[in-house]
Amino acid sequence: MKSILVIGSLNADLVVRAPRFPKPGETLTGEDLQVIPGGKGANQAVAAARMGAAVHMAGRVGQDTFGPMLVNNLEDAGVEVSQVQASGSATGTATIVVDGQGENFIVLSPGANGLLSSQDVDAIDFNLFGWLLLQLEIPLEVVAHAAAKARMAGCRVILNPAPARELPPNMLAHVDIVIPNETELSLLTGCDTDDLAGVEDCARGLLMRGVEIVLVTLGAQGSLLVTADYTEHIPAFKVKVVDTTGAGDAFIGGLAASLAEGKSLPEAARIANACGALATTRFGAQPSLPTYMDVEKLLNQ
Ligand code: RIB
Repeated sequence: MKSILVIGSLNADLVVRAPRFPKPGETLTGEDLQVIPGGKGANQAVAAARMGAAVHMAGRVGQDTFGPMLVNNLEDAGVEVSQVQASGSATGTATIVVDGQGENFIVLSPGANGLLSSQDVDAIDFNLFGWLLLQLEIPLEVVAHAAAKARMAGCRVILNPAPARELPPNMLAHVDIVIPNETELSLLTGCDTDDLAGVEDCARGLLMRGVEIVLVTLGAQGSLLVTADYTEHIPAFKVKVVDTTGAGDAFIGGLAASLAEGKSLPEAARIANACGALATTRFGAQPSLPTYMDVEKLLNQ
């Protein structure tokens, strides 16, 4: 199995459960604050490792108490962390409110994630990896640089364009697989994602920009896989939702691990759907990420 490299964010998630989201100017009382390991990059690394993949993480944490907590959690999951550096600033945080339906809203404070640089990327030997996973919680120029370098070394590049941001011109030419949700897809293409036909049209717009595969996550509707000559809607698994935080990351980590293991694209997408569904049944980002055995059980039901 080829190793997966994740270059991305590590956040301490500061999470409060509340019966509903507050209105502007309103104060609500929620449950006790919990500090939970998160960050899209670290979540995807842990998700792939729990699915049995060999995973390395590159990123930055601050020299505060959150940094070691996040690094230890990656190590506990079996992720190799020698490229995670501690720098002077604070560790990235995500302030999260989860409502009674398990939906969330998130405010990011990038901290050390914002200090990751192209020089950090230059220190990486991409020949050691088969796959690179990228998201957008680190500086965009670093994401673009990493994608270009990985491609030159023969890695397959997966981009999760989250949180939604405009991309630099040509970045997608260095990406093999893009995994947006509907909001991110709409921002990237400027077109309507109101129904499945609209989502497919938008996805085809991304194919025109040099991407080989677009896999759109659709929440309760599952996901849509689009390539030049193939489209498949993969329905969601029905589960009782507790907290949707990290579900997209579980999906992406599960997909990467399955592809690295040599599974076909449709099979990997079905496994990714199962990973995403299982992550919504538990509270928190990294604690909710399923293992290979959890996923097998759901797939066999
Ligand atoms: O995708 C979920 C993640 O987004 C959270 O863990 C939070 O850290 C934010 O980065």
